[in-house]
Amino acid sequence: KVMDQLFGVHQLEKHLANHFGIARCVISAGDSDRQEKVVKNFGESLNESLDLLLPEGKNIIAVMGGTTMAQVAECLTNLESDKRHNLFVPARGGIGEALTVQANSVSAMMAMRSNGEHRALYVPEQLSSDTYRSLMKEPSILEVLNLISQANCVIHSIGRALHMAARRKMSEKEILMLKQANAVAESFGYFFDEAGKVVYKVPRIGLQLKDLQTVPLILAIAGGKSKAKAINAYMQNAPKQTWLLTDEAAANEILKGE
Ligand code: F6P
Repeated sequence: KVMDQLFGVHQLEKHLANHFGIARCVISAGDSDRQEKVVKNFGESLNESLDLLLPEGKNIIAVMGGTTMAQVAECLTNLESDKRHNLFVPARGGIGEALTVQANSVSAMMAMRSNGEHRALYVPEQLSSDTYRSLMKEPSILEVLNLISQANCVIHSIGRALHMAARRKMSEKEILMLKQANAVAESFGYFFDEAGKVVYKVPRIGLQLKDLQTVPLILAIAGGKSKAKAINAYMQNAPKQTWLLTDEAAANEILKGE
C-alpha cells in the first residue's frame, strides 16, 4: 500500500514537471489549505532539496517573503559544511507585508536555522524619487543589491493576484486594473494572467523577473487547492530550471484541467 502511494506520487511529480516543462516537482501528500502539516512537509522537502542542490563554495540565496516562506524557513536544518557556506539575502525591497513574513525576516530565519549568514535590505515602502535616488548611493544598500545580483539560488512562493493585492493594500485603481487584466497570480511583485503573461509590476529594487533566467537554482513553493490557478499561471512561463514544491491537492487540480 505504501509503495503504491509512493509510486502514485512519483508519477504525479513526473506528470506535473512535464506539464510545465520544468526541472522537477516535489509533491507532498494532502492539501496545505486544510492541513498545517503539509506546509511542514514543504519545509522538509525544501531542506532536502537545498542540501542536494547547493554546490560547494559560497552560495548566495535570495528569498521572498509570505506566510509559506516564513513557515518553511523554520524547517531548515544545518546546510553548512567545511566546504559549503551560505549567505541569505531578501530578493527584493519591502513589498508591503507584515514584519514576520517580510523577506528580511525569512532570510534571517533561514540563516539562523541552517547556520548560514544573512544580510538585510532596509528600504522603506513609500519613497519619493529623490530619497530613492540618494538611497541608491548608500554603500550599505548597494552592497546588498550587489549580493542579490550575484545570487545563485532563489527561493520564492506564488500567491493569488487579488488576495495579494488586498494584503498589500494596493489602491482601488490598481485592483480594478488587475481585475480588468484578468490577473490570477502574483510572484516577486509581478502579476500574471492565466497564460502566465505579466500584466502588472510593483516597482521595487532588487531582483527583477528577467534576472531569474540566469539563476542556476530556483525553488518555488506553493500548494493548496485554492492556489492551483495561480500556480498554473505563474509556472507557464517560469524559468525551466525551477523546482516546484507543491502538494497533491494543487497538482490534481492543475492536471484536471489538462
Ligand atoms: O509578498 C511576498 C510573496 O512571496 C508573494 O510574492 C507571494 O504571492 C506571496 O508572498 C505568497 O504568500 P503566502 O505564502 O502567504 O500565500
